[in-house]
Amino acid sequence: MSPQEQISQLTDQINFYTFKYYQENETLISDQEFDFNLKALEKLEAEYPDLKQEDSPTNRVGGTITKNFNTVEHKFPMLSLSNTYNEAELIEWDERIQKILNGSPYEYICELKFDGISLSMTYENGILKRAVTRGDGAKGDDITANVKTIKTLPLSNQSRFNFPIDFEIRGEGFMPNTSFERLNAERLENNESPLANPRNAASGAFKMQDSAEVAKRGLDAYIYQFLTENETFKTHEDSLIAMKKAGFNVSQTWKKVPDIQAVIDFIEEWKTKRHSLPCATDGIVIKINNYAQREDLGVTSKSPRWAISYKYKAESKSTLLRSVTFQVGRTGAVTPVGELEPIELAMTMVKRATLHNADELERLGLRIGDYVFVEKAGEIIPKITGVDNSRPTLMTKEIEFPRNCPACGTELTRKDGEAATVCPNEKGCLPQIKGKVEHFIQRKGMNIDSLGEGKLEILFENKIIDDAADLYFLKYEDLIGLEKTHLDELTGKERKVSFKEKTVQNILDGIEKSKAQPFSKVLYSMGIRFVGETTSEKLAAYFKNLEAIKAADFETLRTVPDVGEKVAQSLIAYFQDEDALHFIDKLQAAGLNFVEENSEKQAESDSLAGKLFLYTGSFLNFSRTELEDKIESNGGKLTSGVSKKLDFLIVGSEPGPSKINKAEQLGVKMISESEFQAML
Ligand code: IVH
Repeated sequence: MSPQEQISQLTDQINFYTFKYYQENETLISDQEFDFNLKALEKLEAEYPDLKQEDSPTNRVGGTITKNFNTVEHKFPMLSLSNTYNEAELIEWDERIQKILNGSPYEYICELKFDGISLSMTYENGILKRAVTRGDGAKGDDITANVKTIKTLPLSNQSRFNFPIDFEIRGEGFMPNTSFERLNAERLENNESPLANPRNAASGAFKMQDSAEVAKRGLDAYIYQFLTENETFKTHEDSLIAMKKAGFNVSQTWKKVPDIQAVIDFIEEWKTKRHSLPCATDGIVIKINNYAQREDLGVTSKSPRWAISYKYKAESKSTLLRSVTFQVGRTGAVTPVGELEPIELAMTMVKRATLHNADELERLGLRIGDYVFVEKAGEIIPKITGVDNSRPTLMTKEIEFPRNCPACGTELTRKDGEAATVCPNEKGCLPQIKGKVEHFIQRKGMNIDSLGEGKLEILFENKIIDDAADLYFLKYEDLIGLEKTHLDELTGKERKVSFKEKTVQNILDGIEKSKAQPFSKVLYSMGIRFVGETTSEKLAAYFKNLEAIKAADFETLRTVPDVGEKVAQSLIAYFQDEDALHFIDKLQAAGLNFVEENSEKQAESDSLAGKLFLYTGSFLNFSRTELEDKIESNGGKLTSGVSKKLDFLIVGSEPGPSKINKAEQLGVKMISESEFQAML
């Protein structure tokens, strides 16, 4: 047998055994034999890396390091669901459905709502090509290498049934409770603070750079949606059955029901039973079964009308309110936070809960020393909902809202009609300054994630930066060796964090990379009051550059969609502020984008005119979209498969063997990344 045949046979065998084991509970081969085969495959692949198949089970143990996840556009947008917490609303929803469907009969499918992160997997030619996070619904992160570590997810379609070869499936990636508990036990042993809940643990794990680490986290996914360009199934039920048969991990908790009363029964049935499932759930998803009816019902901008989620009310417990502390945020708003006697809620320990503002304190009528009810909003953020008068208290004390800022001492102010009590020392109050930089680097902004997890704190403590613009002037020497000692709240032990070579380089790389963020993100990151993500996009699209926004008067600003009086006023005030202008000057000197790139791709040259391109693998200097842009902006055209018409196949690292083979057969010219660059 040739190495290629051996590799192909081993790959298929192992995938088949995995499918049988995880999806059909059938063990066809001993553990030792399985490991032996896997090792043999690993060895062959190491010897002949070009022959490794895309659906190789060796991917499951990881080994791919992804520095930055590529952003990928979803072929079909990933919508969210509208929520309800009560039966009455559910019945109203059902009545609306009845009306729109005009009396024709319909059925529902009830499913558990799994609490993890939503994933979208694309299979092309039966092979798992891409796994992408939901992101903003239009585009997400390509986390394929990490998702491939999920043992229950077929890397290629194992179905011998009638199943299309090109399709997309969606589901919830999660960390099973057992994996979560194991992880937290390990973290405690290593003096690391435990993670708050399985959902956070999952979302962290799916975004790790080293897929070998991800493989150790024991992630899993339930599949709940099937998508193809042409309709494959008539009903959701058919799709669930077919996906299950084809080896996808469809949770067998779903049920087809005839009416809303049966939905309510299903909700009741799972109210407590759900806690016995292997993963966290926070509700029930109710979907119209028939796809044609789904079409009739349609979607709103955010969510489909044919589905709704019912969220279980959070568990509520009472505990002692030990004290209230006051925190200052980015905008200067002072937020009271209840410090609680730790209590377990929905499987996690809660020791603090936000009290929002002075009105909320008054509304709840809390006193220090009271027993208070705590709930988890969305089972994640703890919330104090009231005083538990049934429990006797010893001594209680009034909560006094401070008159002066707890961080800088400035007298606090509260504007008429506004809920927030604010520290007006916008430019001299440390938490406000820090908050602005945190806002600047966040994912939705300049996306400098190399500065997360307390690293920014170290920069402030060492007085290395005064504002976000200073980040762009940092040098290696400024950072190397900086350190800080943390007190771990849970273990009470001290931990030292210090900047070593790799960390510093990583930080600097992250900062450098952020310079490529488009103007709309720069604008958002500047943190102009009331100028959120959407408004920034609208402003950037309308004015095209910062100079034009700066020059615009109130009336002109108001003509922009989404810009109201408040936003326009805030923009005008911002651009009259000396410090803000100085900050912008620094950002400009750093080379950030202050001009919106044309949404229509600008032509660069016609050096590739008339040539047809395809690429395979990944590239050093381009993401997939960048490569596509490069081809198109230089006059080239893209195609989707290898054919005689193809002029060039650009081959990156880890190329797809099938494309290479076919190109070889047809005599298509293959070029490397640098050869491609030379053509430009
Ligand atoms: S269907 C357009 N089914 O809930 C509807 N979603 O709030 C697509 N989720 O983003 C979603 N379990 O991450 C669906 N059985 C289930 C689900 C489920 C969990 C999550 C999913 C989605 C979010 C919507």
